[in-house]
Amino acid sequence: MEGEKLERCDVLIRNGEVIDGTGAARYRADVAISGDRIAAVGDLGGATADVTIDAAGRIVAPGFIDAHTHDDRLALSDPGMPAKVSQGVTSVIAGNCGISLAPLVLDRDPPPPMDLLGDRGWYRFARFGDYLDTLDRAPPAVNLACLVGHSTLRAAAMDDLARPATAGEIARMADTLDDALDAGAIGLSTGLAYPTAMAAPIDEVVALAERLAPVGAIYTTHMRDEGDRVIESIAETVETGRRAGVRVVISHHKCNGRDNWGRTRETLPKIAAAQRDQTLDLDVYPYIASSTSLLPDFIEKSERVLVTWSTPHADCAGRDLDEIAAEWGLTREKAAERLMPAGAIYFSMDEADLRRIIAFPRAMIGSDGLPHDEKPHPRLWGTFPRVLGHYCRELGLLPLEEAVHRMTGVPAGVFGLAGRGTIAEGAFADLTVFDAETVIDRATFDDPIQPSAGIETVIVNGTIAWQGGAATGARSGRALRRGDSI
Ligand code: ZN
Ligand code: CU
Repeated sequence: MEGEKLERCDVLIRNGEVIDGTGAARYRADVAISGDRIAAVGDLGGATADVTIDAAGRIVAPGFIDAHTHDDRLALSDPGMPAKVSQGVTSVIAGNCGISLAPLVLDRDPPPPMDLLGDRGWYRFARFGDYLDTLDRAPPAVNLACLVGHSTLRAAAMDDLARPATAGEIARMADTLDDALDAGAIGLSTGLAYPTAMAAPIDEVVALAERLAPVGAIYTTHMRDEGDRVIESIAETVETGRRAGVRVVISHHKCNGRDNWGRTRETLPKIAAAQRDQTLDLDVYPYIASSTSLLPDFIEKSERVLVTWSTPHADCAGRDLDEIAAEWGLTREKAAERLMPAGAIYFSMDEADLRRIIAFPRAMIGSDGLPHDEKPHPRLWGTFPRVLGHYCRELGLLPLEEAVHRMTGVPAGVFGLAGRGTIAEGAFADLTVFDAETVIDRATFDDPIQPSAGIETVIVNGTIAWQGGAATGARSGRALRRGDSI
């Protein structure tokens, strides 16, 4: 639609600098929204609107897509999702690292790391479609596109997760996966480093991943080893993608443990080489500490461990594991066992590696935030503003247009989110208006539940979800189904 022909619209964002999500240079334009779509982009001087937003001196970008989340349950238990909208995130990819809330009904406690999503009462969706239908009936503030977790499939099909699945169990898991893909799941995730899946050989994973390619679904993986055997794990991931003929995302790429610091000089060229033959992407969060369940195996590679929650010792949330161990007169490992079930933050990475990964072409930004932790890793609230403010503006690691591209157009393409991730006429009106001069994370390891600075207006499917430093209470997000078209 030409600017002069548009007479009125619902929301008009005037005078902003549009960064359209394709990686193209910014340009000055007005953006008009009607209903849930972008009605026009250009000089819309004559148009009137119910709501006008003055974006002079501000960036108008597509809403950010969080490429890696564990928000499956958050969308049900805290559908306002302030940790997301406050960062400018309008869509999330849920069900990562092998753990999805559906399809699984549990009559026992979920084993770690499945307990990151909630207790057994939350695992109550026998079919994947039931979960998506529940989101339709009570929509959250942002859009969700959901993966099926391999550990979730295993928990439903197997009596003992500490062994490979039998042929019969693989067939059952594959049927359940097919049903989920039919219902709209966008792919399969694995967490091969975890006790719930580490006994699964590559053949088990390939047998399931083979179901993905015919329907255009994707495979994401928290690899078997992100430390000493990271190169072997990349080789396994590449082989899985090749044998199953499927597109792959390496989740939260990192080189864990002091002995492995600097090895992104090996991993990134290996990934780049594989990208010449097959579709392979990766995501990264902008911190040198990881976070997951507190597991004795994960402690050894860490410089420092912080407890994020503990069922038997709730008062230990936020405390240093070494300090607790000293107080109890125990080793780190013994203290961890006494704290379990629990969660932890592990300081185990090198800043130079992190910067190399963030600078790697097409690396997507994914928070990996853990929304139910008592004292969560600050990535939950800070990831996107930290990339924009710290890595982009302060360190100049990548241009702003490129950073926005990695948060919008790239993940929309990788995960197949039709009509999202770019600013164009007819696209869904998922938009974030921010101040490039002031945007920054405020969440810290000591004080992690903090909205960022500089994110001014966030619009989800045409409705304002965040403005003036506060959520509006809108819940205009949607369950996005594989194959949804614009
Ligand atoms: Zn993971
Ligand atoms: Cu994760």
